[in-house]
Amino acid sequence: MWPYWWPALAYLLGLFFLSLIAWQIFDATAGLLVVCAGLALKLLQHLFQLRRLAAWLADPSQPAPQALGIWGDVFYRLARMVHSHNAERARSQADLRQLLQATRLLPDGVVILDKQQRIVWFNQAAQDHLNLQDPRDLGQFIGYIVRNAAFNAWLNGPQDEAGFTMPAVTDAERTLTLRWVPLPPEQKMLLSHDITELARVDAMRRDFVANVSHELRTPVTVIVGFLEAFADMDEPDPEQFKRHIQLLHEQAERMRRLLDDLLTLARLESDTEMADEAIDVATLARSLVQEAEGLSGGRHRIVLELQSAAGIKGSPKEIHSAFSNLVSNAVRYTPPGGVITLRWRDNASGGAEFSVTDTGEGIEAQHIPRLTERFYRVDRGRSRATGGTGLGLAIVKHVLQRHQAHLRIESTVGKGSTFTAVFPAERIIPAASTRPPASVPAAA
Ligand SMILES: Nc1ncnc2c1ncn2[C@@H]1O[C@H](COP(=O)(O)OP(=O)(O)OP(=O)(O)O)[C@@H](O)[C@H]1O
Ligand SMILES: [Mg+2]
Repeated sequence: MWPYWWPALAYLLGLFFLSLIAWQIFDATAGLLVVCAGLALKLLQHLFQLRRLAAWLADPSQPAPQALGIWGDVFYRLARMVHSHNAERARSQADLRQLLQATRLLPDGVVILDKQQRIVWFNQAAQDHLNLQDPRDLGQFIGYIVRNAAFNAWLNGPQDEAGFTMPAVTDAERTLTLRWVPLPPEQKMLLSHDITELARVDAMRRDFVANVSHELRTPVTVIVGFLEAFADMDEPDPEQFKRHIQLLHEQAERMRRLLDDLLTLARLESDTEMADEAIDVATLARSLVQEAEGLSGGRHRIVLELQSAAGIKGSPKEIHSAFSNLVSNAVRYTPPGGVITLRWRDNASGGAEFSVTDTGEGIEAQHIPRLTERFYRVDRGRSRATGGTGLGLAIVKHVLQRHQAHLRIESTVGKGSTFTAVFPAERIIPAASTRPPASVPAAA
């Protein structure tokens, strides 16, 4: 503080001595005049600096005025304060922008509501979930937009942990879970979360349990029925007993097949490790022809067309199980006298395809997308009667997925079907590294 007083003190002393000199040379009035003039000059100087300060404060983006002494220091300190305030504000604005950007892009919907439940702000996902439009719906009552009485009652009720579940406003097929949290001072933050996938998986799990129980109930009921009948028999007829034992065996076998398929599916889903061996598809196809002949028992003509000499990288066991599922389906769903063709060929995109074509009953178009669902059967009774569990194509789909391959199904009712496993180029072992090419179609 002191350094600022020295110039002022020096000025006053100078003025005092000047007035003394004027008094000595002239008279007391002259001395007084010098004092008044000196003080007036100082006052004018301060008024001038105050005016500069007022002008600068009106527009602090301009450079601060320059001055000497106490005014110079005041200007310097004020300029520094303005500068750090601006920097702080820019930083906060950048943080806020980043936060808003992140909230805007959140996969969950966020809607800020005021005290009267009018929309103050919402993000992209909320727009998508609740059919909000920016800026049209800003300031609108949320109840006018989400016209669902139960939703409005929930929003006006006490805050709850469980949340509220309803279909998305934009798409009734999608399911949302909504929650709200109070936002001080008197706002609410409404959060929406899309649980469509979760609900779908949950429904699938319920269906799966129901299906497994249903599939197991039939054989178990038959077995229990026979056992009760046996218990009631005093002297069983050996012939009838044998027949019954045979039926019991069939049902037990069916249960075993179902459990085996379920275990295979569970393993395919949980096993991340997979063998990556070279599979010689030609040899595999030849053994499948033999399997098909065994299953068919001479009722069908089995044809093998090897148009590629390529191999596959993968799990021989899994690929065998997938291909043999396709072959057994062809045999099972083709009436006697039909032709079943196994074909292995390269495709245009550098991959290769294994297909099984039959001249069977064919499948109506509406069933085709659902064939790989667990337990899905076009004709339940027919499939069960032939010993099918309805899990075969689900297993095929999983195996192919694990090999980055996919299943293509083409079918014409009354003419037959072709099930093709399409392998991408990265799974193919070129012909030279497996065996010499065999491009001529070979009928087995
Ligand atoms: N080649 C085919 N021709 C006609 N329908 C077929 C053919 N392959 C499959 N299907 C239909 O697709 C359904 C599902 O086949 P999938 O192999 O998954 O089960 P499945 O044969 O009934 O039993 P499994 O688990 O023993 O194979 C079958 O029930 C059948 O209706
Ligand atoms: Mg099958």
